[in-house]
Amino acid sequence: MSSRPIESLLDERRVFAPPEAFANQALVNDESVYERARRDPEGFWARAAEDLHWFRRWDAVLEWTPPYARWFVGGRTNIAYNCLDRHLRSARRNKAAIVWEGEPGEQRVLTYWDLAREVNRCANALLALGVRRGDRVAIYMPMIPELPIAMLACARIGAVHTVVFGGFSAEALRDRINDAQAKVVITADGGFRRGQIVPLKRNVDHALAETPTIQHVLVVRRIGEAAAIHMVEGRDRWWHRALDGMGLDCPAEEMDSEDLLYILYTSGTTGKPKGIVHTTGGYMVGTYLTTKWIFDLKEDDVYWCTADIGWVTGHSYIVYGPLANGATTVMYEGTPDWPEKDRFWEIVERYGVTVLYTAPTAIRTFIKWGPQWPARHDLSTLRLLGTVGEPINPEAWMWYRRHIGGDRTPVVDTWWQTETGMILISPLPGLTTLKPGSATRPFPTIDAEVVDEKGVPVPPNTGGYLVLRRPWPAMLRGIYGDPARFQQIYWDRIPGVYFTGDGARKDDDGYFWLLGRVDDVINVAGHRIGTMEVESALVSHPRVAEAAVIGMHHEIKGQALAAFVTLKDGGTPDESVIEELRDHVAEKIGPIAKPDRVLLTAELPKTRSGKIMRRLLRDIAEGRVLGDTTTLADPTVVHSLRERYEEDAGG
Ligand code: WTA
Repeated sequence: MSSRPIESLLDERRVFAPPEAFANQALVNDESVYERARRDPEGFWARAAEDLHWFRRWDAVLEWTPPYARWFVGGRTNIAYNCLDRHLRSARRNKAAIVWEGEPGEQRVLTYWDLAREVNRCANALLALGVRRGDRVAIYMPMIPELPIAMLACARIGAVHTVVFGGFSAEALRDRINDAQAKVVITADGGFRRGQIVPLKRNVDHALAETPTIQHVLVVRRIGEAAAIHMVEGRDRWWHRALDGMGLDCPAEEMDSEDLLYILYTSGTTGKPKGIVHTTGGYMVGTYLTTKWIFDLKEDDVYWCTADIGWVTGHSYIVYGPLANGATTVMYEGTPDWPEKDRFWEIVERYGVTVLYTAPTAIRTFIKWGPQWPARHDLSTLRLLGTVGEPINPEAWMWYRRHIGGDRTPVVDTWWQTETGMILISPLPGLTTLKPGSATRPFPTIDAEVVDEKGVPVPPNTGGYLVLRRPWPAMLRGIYGDPARFQQIYWDRIPGVYFTGDGARKDDDGYFWLLGRVDDVINVAGHRIGTMEVESALVSHPRVAEAAVIGMHHEIKGQALAAFVTLKDGGTPDESVIEELRDHVAEKIGPIAKPDRVLLTAELPKTRSGKIMRRLLRDIAEGRVLGDTTTLADPTVVHSLRERYEEDAGG
């Protein structure tokens, strides 16, 4: 594991204690929470669960039979009920639940009352389409209010949603629908992105050519005429027609705490994405409490998480966590540079956003655009900033605090994963002294450690593997339909603990510094992409014989993909094929997986046993001195490859 560059070691000495005014008003400002949680972790989570509504109280907080945890065993609840009905009995019924802005500029505000009605209508429409408790519903939508409405409607009737990010291709959608055996797809005629129309419905039509389980498609009219879509008679229904006349009331199913809530597909180290399974009770309590404490959420906050709901961040920290807290959550459909590079800051100013949660990639992009863009707007309502998705370099952290936070706000760097469901390592902003670039400490009760491959904790300031030694409420309950893989990927790697796939080190104060993935998962602009997935996409092209994909450092995106490709026809380097290959990957997976660089090569560096040496390809891509080449079958391959790579970059 590599050590960190000198500059960031120096930065570690810069620390930021919580400003006194912030600490005084914070929900959590007493260090004893950690100790109390350590002494009685189950009592800690039971107290959080008591804030929420249960049709039947749990018998036991936790049953732990590794690798399966059951939380709030025997409890019956409904997360949509907790996100909606629970608030309708108080003044919150008239409070803005979702403040939405479309990319073209439309605005919509849904109060808790409005949102509950829409969710009920949608739930009744799903029932009318034959969706029942336990059925899977695929959701492939732009960032419009109907997306959380659809999710909550599924949760209300006990159907399992699987949201597929709108940037994924028709083929990626098809594979996820088939793996989940979904019965219904909910989509829109399109979405807006940087002024262009994203043809969601057309992708659905392509996907549905090979999805035997789908019976109906519900289509939101987002674009109108310009979308020029075709509705298939008998299969496709317009959302507004299907909801028309539906009752405003739909009883919430009493779900078992361990009933499935959703499946969310994420990339791993094989060619096939994994369906991460989350259940109801523990996930609800975990996202509820982390949202409340980490974002210090108060009744009058205007909270904005800029993620797309197609990723786990949107599930936990746009939809379920904030709504379970009765918060006002902002949702924006489009990109930060449309029509100008100050769109985010315009939104912060327009709605008086108080808490902003975004990704390091976005921050690095803002740095590149320059501080004049945020400076045009009054950002003084902001009182807390957060980041997620990838390691944040101290420079970006400092810039964020200064130019967005006015040198005043705490910045919470939150570490977690699709699998963890909830934030696990993060400051508590009223309590934790911050170090730029560090996610600081595990949330109360979370037992994170940095260990070697045998599971033995490594000394401070030494890199190792980040593992979790005790279960937490929102943890994954498996990989959909593949228990063996669940065991093997997360539990067999290091004895007795959950393996995160991340490298980390702890400093002398016990602060965690995340060092990035240690497996074949690449984090491109905060999006997880498996190199194996991109490799299989490449080799599915008729001209490709072999492909090796690696992650390389990228100034804005954190990491970018580089592909080394051998063509079947002997590989006379033919440059026109490069664009074709990149497009092919976009078609197989989605534009986010397009490699930044594709290098055609007659040969790949391999060991004598035929294994591609990706480590050497990484050295080439990042311009490092080549590591040990003595095990290569033909060491000259790698040297000529390096020359070609550098020529290519220069040209
Ligand atoms: C990375 C996103 C450093 C990490 C919530 C993890 C981070 C992967 C951080 C999960 C952070 C997420 N600092 N790295 N604060 N947050 N990561 O499943 O490598 O899309 O394993 O979940 O993102 O990505 P995922």
